[in-house]
Amino acid sequence: MTSLVQGVHHITLCPGGAQQDLDFFTQVLGQRLVKQTVLMDGSIPIYHLYYGNADADVGSIATSFPYSRKPGRAGSGQLSCTSYTVPNGAITFWKDHFDRHQAEHSGVQERFGTKYLRVRHPAGLLFEMIEERGDNRNPWMTKEITRDAATRGFFGAVLSVRDVRDQESFFVDALGFRKVGVDGPYHRFEVPGSGPGRVVDLHVEPERAPGSWGFGAGTAHHIAFNVETDDALVKQKAVYEELGFTDASEIKDRFYFHSMYVRSPGGILVECTANVPGGFYQDEAPEELGTKLHLPPWFEEQREAIVAQLEAITVPEENRPRPGDAPVARPVVAAAQKPMQESKIPLSRTRAAFDADKQTT
Ligand SMILES: [Fe+2]
Repeated sequence: MTSLVQGVHHITLCPGGAQQDLDFFTQVLGQRLVKQTVLMDGSIPIYHLYYGNADADVGSIATSFPYSRKPGRAGSGQLSCTSYTVPNGAITFWKDHFDRHQAEHSGVQERFGTKYLRVRHPAGLLFEMIEERGDNRNPWMTKEITRDAATRGFFGAVLSVRDVRDQESFFVDALGFRKVGVDGPYHRFEVPGSGPGRVVDLHVEPERAPGSWGFGAGTAHHIAFNVETDDALVKQKAVYEELGFTDASEIKDRFYFHSMYVRSPGGILVECTANVPGGFYQDEAPEELGTKLHLPPWFEEQREAIVAQLEAITVPEENRPRPGDAPVARPVVAAAQKPMQESKIPLSRTRAAFDADKQTT
């Protein structure tokens, strides 16, 4: 089949405390905090923090719901590791860097002929740095992490499954991936095309007990794949339904993008995502990404009550605009996408209602 999916869009995780997560992502993994907002479902205020590369590129964004109110259970049927690309030869730096931060790591490993190094987040989540030539995305740098070592964005992700067969069919038949190899317990799949962030490794762990599915500290919640437009989301939903995955969600408005979810056969929640015009740059200047809490318009009236229930966090100095820096040009994101008001596609959530209300008042 022709793939509607273009690669990984974002990966969403549940750590525990917000500041602990912020410190690990920015200081240990060297990511840029690119957005502070809140969970857009339900009524309990939970941060939604976004981390990415210097340009907040699609395919570099890890998002987290710091969910200290309840532990999750890590296991099979979950995304088990988030994979970043780093320049060839950078693994030694990362090993020393993790040692300096007293972060538990795996030592240098190899799979599919490539070196990698895994590290554990304080909440238990796993990340890995994979050496990859020719990834030209713009890295975020810190005082400790320079251009020759910094992450470029996602290589992809590792998903734990007890049985590979149905999950393989899902990736091939429903999402249009092709299988490119097997290395021990790892089965590798790629989205056809070129460019980074197109790899998923299924890690077959037949004896591993299933992990929890809801929000819970120490577990991954879902992986999201990029599609071009809202129309592609509708087509992807039809593909799921044609194959018998009738539990695909409606299309949800996440303000920075639109989303549609389905539970895949191995247990992993899979989202497909279409950007909206402006993306992460809709509500703040490029040089100010991540520096303030942004709420979607429909939550703005409740700001005081929401903020009162959130853990206070300190944005690292490196994530704040630097005095004297020239303003950065606002990137054009998904300019081909129709503005929301012209979209004929019904959205499940409140942005459409908000726009309608605004027009009648
Ligand atoms: Fe998501």
